[in-house]
Amino acid sequence: MKDVVAIYPGSFDPLTNGHVDIIQRGSRLFDRIVIALLVNLEKAPLFTVPERVDLAREVFRGWANVEVDTFDGLLVDYARRKDASVIVRGLRAVSDFEYELQMALMNRRLNPDVETVFMMPAEPYTYVSSRLVKEVVALGGSVRGLVPDSVEARLREKKLARETLRA
Ligand code: PNS
Repeated sequence: MKDVVAIYPGSFDPLTNGHVDIIQRGSRLFDRIVIALLVNLEKAPLFTVPERVDLAREVFRGWANVEVDTFDGLLVDYARRKDASVIVRGLRAVSDFEYELQMALMNRRLNPDVETVFMMPAEPYTYVSSRLVKEVVALGGSVRGLVPDSVEARLREKKLARETLRA
């Protein structure tokens, strides 16, 4: 039987415990799961792509079937290159659904051989998003427990660096 490879695509700016939860679930379900960071030149991210790759690699060091990679262009083309038959996406609330449905159906139209599988994160992470995490940290709040410890430390370093630059 062929190994089932799943792609978990996203911006991961930064990786949250909600993402980690979904990756854990995926790693139990599929033979291999590839965390695929989108290289998107248009957005202004907080963390560079190499920083985000390093953070993800650090969090998943020692996880035999979790890989961290980057991609650009169409996700379905990348999935084909990785010989992946599944795209994993997390669904937190109904508000995620419309955007996710559009992407899943567009991806199915582009490549009907790749199936999108939605997974719900554990309840404590249903309201966690990278955007809110960045906002809370920028405004001086704590995100402890909502992101991996290494990510929290890097967020604090970034904030300090920005404040020093502004001073
Ligand atoms: O973390 P995000 O920003 O919600 O992830 C969005 C992502 C990376 C899954 C999406 O933007 C994507 O797949 N981009 C690649 C370009 C592509 O294939 N577009 C058509 C998909 S409908």
